[in-house]
Amino acid sequence: MMSDRSLTVALGAIIAVGLGLSYAALAQNPTAAPVGDPQRGSTIAANGTAGGAPGCAQCHGQDGAADPSGSFPRIAGHSDFYLAKQLREFASGVRSNDTMSPIAKAMTAQDIVDVATYYAASKAPVPPLPTPDAAVVKAGRQLAKFGNEDKGLQACDNCHGPDGAGEPPGIPYLAGQFSGYITQQLQAWQGGTRKNSPTEMAVVAKKLSAQDIAAVAAYYQQVRTAGEVVGSK
Ligand code: HEC
Ligand code: HEC
Repeated sequence: MMSDRSLTVALGAIIAVGLGLSYAALAQNPTAAPVGDPQRGSTIAANGTAGGAPGCAQCHGQDGAADPSGSFPRIAGHSDFYLAKQLREFASGVRSNDTMSPIAKAMTAQDIVDVATYYAASKAPVPPLPTPDAAVVKAGRQLAKFGNEDKGLQACDNCHGPDGAGEPPGIPYLAGQFSGYITQQLQAWQGGTRKNSPTEMAVVAKKLSAQDIAAVAAYYQQVRTAGEVVGSK
């Protein structure tokens, strides 16, 4: 018959083996999410995917800075979490766009994680951009930094971080993003084609006038000057 002490030792050994196994499993896969391969992500950015998604570089640039025309958003340096979330949401219809929805639908879960890992690591500098109207920028800065009490709007920087630098992983940078894209997204929340962030961004966007939108968009584009690196830290 086992003494109390040897029973305790035996139980201890069983627990230790159990813990060892679960630590081993954790070490292999800390978050249980698929691990991104930036090398494969770079190939997808250049050449697209086997499932038919085109190379991202065509529109977003191989470094994710996009082109200075501002027709496409810069995607360099967002968190991999944010980038992958957006791609999954284009695929599921939570976010809808004629260009990006079919592209995201043509990607596998692994394609998404790999390309998100690749662009998250990119340190692309801001391209030279035209200087916006100073009065418009000033109005935008006011809203970004202080909000508008009459409208019950809190400062954008409360969530987006100082100067819109981003609060990764969940909140993207606005600093150095193209004004045209910022405008489109705020309009998408107003119109209901972007349905993610229903309790935060949809509420914020619906309180903004067309003038407010033009102002914050102009402000955030010029917060970073040409050559500065933009990224969510
Ligand atoms: C033909 C041009 C085109 C190609 C190719 C393209 N995109 Fe896009 N992408 C866009 C446009 C336009 C938007 C803005 C969509 C919107 O307004 O909602 C966008 C938006 C995005 C966003 C959201 C950015 C944000 O800040 O929320 C991500 C992420 C993205 N694209 C990733 C990719 C990846 C990864 C690829 C390659 C597999 C790719 N795109 C290929 C045009 C393109
Ligand atoms: C309560 C927190 C909060 C406040 C305040 C807030 N945002 Fe956001 N914003 C978010 C979150 C969260 C997201 C990411 C949503 C998602 O997951 O797609 C976001 C995303 C955005 C995007 C999309 C960026 C991209 O790359 O696609 C824009 C543009 C934006 N916010 C502009 C603003 C502006 C302008 C203000 C101030 C008028 C503001 N936000 C205030 C939380 C906030």
